[in-house]
Amino acid sequence: MTNPEQIVVPEHILDRDCTTLSRHVLQQLQSFGPEAQDLSAIMNRIALAGKLISRRLSRAGLMVGVLGFTGEENVQGESVKKMDVYANEVFISVFKQSGLVCRLASEEMEKPYYIPENCPIGRYTLLYDPIDGSANVDINLNVGSIFAIRQQEGDDLDGEAKDLLTNGRKQIAAGYILYGPSTMLIYSLGHGVHSFILDPSLGEFILSEENIKIPGHGPVYSTNEGNFWQWYEAIRDYTRYVHRHDGYTARYSGALVGDIHRILMQGGVFLYPGTVKKPEGKLRLLYETAPLAFLVEQAGGRATTGTEEILDVIPSKLHQRTPLVIGSTEDVKLVESFIQDRIRRDNSTMNNC
Ligand code: F6P
Repeated sequence: MTNPEQIVVPEHILDRDCTTLSRHVLQQLQSFGPEAQDLSAIMNRIALAGKLISRRLSRAGLMVGVLGFTGEENVQGESVKKMDVYANEVFISVFKQSGLVCRLASEEMEKPYYIPENCPIGRYTLLYDPIDGSANVDINLNVGSIFAIRQQEGDDLDGEAKDLLTNGRKQIAAGYILYGPSTMLIYSLGHGVHSFILDPSLGEFILSEENIKIPGHGPVYSTNEGNFWQWYEAIRDYTRYVHRHDGYTARYSGALVGDIHRILMQGGVFLYPGTVKKPEGKLRLLYETAPLAFLVEQAGGRATTGTEEILDVIPSKLHQRTPLVIGSTEDVKLVESFIQDRIRRDNSTMNNC
């Protein structure tokens, strides 16, 4: 029989298993002060939302009335799925009566959602996309939630949330939850990027990797090439370049979080450029591209619209869209070089006219 005194669990394994998200936030901030406690509690609530959404997704195909469309359109004119509505409400309900967050702004709501009872103490705003890539939901492929936390500036007495119309460097924290074979939460508080995996037996997100660094270059380019003839010539030039050179491979799932996760872990570039008809692109700044840019920059990568850093873009409205070129620094710079080249050529043609 084994003598219990002989069982030795290596300390590093036990320590890792005990590193929950809320503990990690406090370690990151190196503080137990009220602000650190608030941020830790906010991250804990986001994790709770992730667990609830993950649970529902894992059984969605067995339940009645969970998959498919509601028949409504959201503020962006996109058809709303039942899971979009559910996930949006999950985020609202986990923050109600939390004393943590005064406003929530999401892809699914035209205006921010105010929680007045939280406002006297909870001076934070949560921006989020509750289910990103929801086209994948009905066929049991990966989807994600994206989030950012900002401090509320001013009293917002007119309820217009104008203080949210500032650049992405104002984000205090950002991250995403990936609902894949396992559920992962990736976040940054501006001190590196860290990943957690939901351990279903514990019901906790447990630290899996700290200080993730994106490779300087990777083989993957990830974009919807079905838009090739709608793109500007510069993006077509780049695409022709990767077609004609060895060492590149295309990967695209149609769900941003999964595609970005691949790039974050293995390097490469994700592009959702503007088109001639829609120069602003498809993805929304405040709760899609800015949080992802914050993460990727923290991991040592780069995120631009093609001509401007995403984190410098100041939106003029809540649901503003931006083109996105994001990933390994070398690969993003390659795309930018094709854009600059076209700008130079267009300028010299105009000067010669
Ligand atoms: O933002 C919505 C979204 O579903 C992203 O998750 C994804 O990257 C993109 O749109 C896919 O768009 P498309 O179907 O045009 O390639």
